[in-house]
Amino acid sequence: MADSVPTRSARADYHRLIGQAVDVPLSALPTLSAHAQGVLLAASSQGWLRSPKDLLTHLLDRSAEADQPIPDPAMTVQLRLIHAAPTALIAGCWLAGQLTVEQSHTELGQLLLSEHFALCGQGHWSSHRSVHYRSILVAHGVQLHDPQSPLFARDPRFSDADFLLGTVLLQASRLGAAQKPEVIGVHAAMMLSETLLDVEHALPRSVVLQADRPAVVRKSSVPQLDSILTVYAQTEGADLARVLRGALWVLDAKRQWLQSLTVLPTVSVAQQMQDLVVRKLGHGYGFHRHVLLGARTMDSYWNPQHPQIGELLTALAESPWIVKGQPEQSPLLTQVTQFGGSMFGVFDDAELAVIARWISSLTDAYDHADRTPQPVHSVASLSVTSEPLESSLIPSREPVPKISLRQLYQRWLCPSKQPGSVAQARSYVVAKLSEVEYAGQVSTLLRQGLWPWSAQRLSAWVDARLKEQVKEESEEPDGVSVESLLTREEVIWLLLQLAPAALIDGAWLQGTLRPSCPYLPPVTLLQKIYRDELGAGLCHQHHGNLMRKVLAAEGITLAAVDREEFVNHPQILSAAFSTPVLWLAYALHSQDFFPELLGLNLAIELAGVGSMYSRASRLLRRHQIDPYFFVLHNTIDNGASGHTAWSTEAIALYLDDIAVQGDASHAALCWQRIWRGFATYGQSSAPLLRAIALRIGPRLGYRWLRAHLGRIPTAEAS
Ligand SMILES: [Fe+2]
Ligand SMILES: [Fe+2]
Repeated sequence: MADSVPTRSARADYHRLIGQAVDVPLSALPTLSAHAQGVLLAASSQGWLRSPKDLLTHLLDRSAEADQPIPDPAMTVQLRLIHAAPTALIAGCWLAGQLTVEQSHTELGQLLLSEHFALCGQGHWSSHRSVHYRSILVAHGVQLHDPQSPLFARDPRFSDADFLLGTVLLQASRLGAAQKPEVIGVHAAMMLSETLLDVEHALPRSVVLQADRPAVVRKSSVPQLDSILTVYAQTEGADLARVLRGALWVLDAKRQWLQSLTVLPTVSVAQQMQDLVVRKLGHGYGFHRHVLLGARTMDSYWNPQHPQIGELLTALAESPWIVKGQPEQSPLLTQVTQFGGSMFGVFDDAELAVIARWISSLTDAYDHADRTPQPVHSVASLSVTSEPLESSLIPSREPVPKISLRQLYQRWLCPSKQPGSVAQARSYVVAKLSEVEYAGQVSTLLRQGLWPWSAQRLSAWVDARLKEQVKEESEEPDGVSVESLLTREEVIWLLLQLAPAALIDGAWLQGTLRPSCPYLPPVTLLQKIYRDELGAGLCHQHHGNLMRKVLAAEGITLAAVDREEFVNHPQILSAAFSTPVLWLAYALHSQDFFPELLGLNLAIELAGVGSMYSRASRLLRRHQIDPYFFVLHNTIDNGASGHTAWSTEAIALYLDDIAVQGDASHAALCWQRIWRGFATYGQSSAPLLRAIALRIGPRLGYRWLRAHLGRIPTAEAS
């Protein structure tokens, strides 16, 4: 990330936090102002913290108190949108640290998951609150970089105070289970806040969805918050004062931000435009002798000896180069200063933005006919997800951590507890990728009919693979089935070997929720899959919970996945941790290894359809063991409209976007990276297959087992 963002400022904090690895400890939690401390004290002494309902009432009052309209009535719509952008463009990020797999198996986890899903557009990219906000920005001629970019934090149109609230939200996104109550408070304060919604409220009605109107949104949030607070209050050690503390972090930052807006100069736009013209005087004079502005030449206005800036701007405003209030319709911006125009290259982006704001301020009339927000797909942001191996398809080998798979599993489940975990996970992914270099080679892809890249080729390959997997299901090579050879005890033991992966089913995608991962259409699809793996809002559908239930019915009760008792369970083989460890390593680097993650995800989802899971279901039924974990995957992962279809679509969206930018070689490189990611999945399963063969093989006959090795269900939960 850029070094040139000033240090020790809210904008520097924002920039640092949005890209910081999760194992870097937060330097500090937000501090409370004296006012907020007073509120906390009073709430305690006046009984507002007695019950969740009392707290919610209190939060509603405090939020209403802190909600003020943007103070400066003269501020243009564009400026309002810009000042709120560092907050509005990271909607929902504050919940990311609470939505890891190991925290989502509870009712509270599911409620928070649903809240996040709603903020992220219910699985529809263009309905994501931040994407919607960006659409509004674009409709008003405001172009901003992605929040993850260093250019965003350096943008001179922001004041430092504009980053205050966003910084608190990013801090919250880094907090884990230990600070759940504070994050719930942050969420409540954000959902009850009307100030940001007021920014959109100030816009013409046609560009703000009716459902997004502040009062509607605020009112609709209350029942959900009521449920969240009620469920939280029932958890062991619940502390409602900590929830209020989190909410006060937000209210404090919002108050400071609003105060900062009052000191903005009321004539800033006009003054900025005048300043801009004055700055250009020395360079422009002499070049405009024959350019008429009204009845005079332009040079006559800005003779350095007798500049007449006010008159020049008045004449310019009335000229055909300007359409008042509509910068995007004004030839000065659409033609003269564009490539091929007579003033191309004269103004930098910040100066063009000043001109745009000045044109906007020339009238209050706002013609919304052509300004319905359109979903925008930031080409620039795509590159964020594809860089670390850019220079070479084959990364250099890095030392693989000398720690057991069991320890890595525990460490990467809770990386914030162990500094250095994230760097270690990166080395692990790089090492695993280097073992499957062949999978991304052109010759390999050509052999499989996968070269060069095309969406049709991918789709045809996936279809053929699915058909093959379904066909395998109906063919028994020698008439001897696994079902008839395994004892019930062996089947339960096999199930137990699935637990390290199955209990954290979906974990490979948990990094896609972090604010460092830009909101892009393929990310939305991955988030949809993740949500399903976690139960889509219902505890009993959480895939990990399903496996727990099956095992519990067989008398096996397992500890929480991050506990020593689970990680060192004597009946679980070390090799059973191989696949989930790979998942967790990817999850810590979703942004850097995004193409590989797309490939891994496809491999996992594809594995859930067809023979392997059907055979597993039959095996369990034969022994009167609940087969639903496998039945579910055979349906939910389907290739027509299920997870396999979404996985394929995500890859197509990702590569098509790169190809649209005209960068065919980059698309080809990413395509190769995707297949290497795909191959890491099969590679990660091999140790468990070998270990199972060694354990069960001698009894069944090793040769027979080897012939069936690929047919034994392994740690391939999805
Ligand atoms: Fe799945
Ligand atoms: Fe699953």
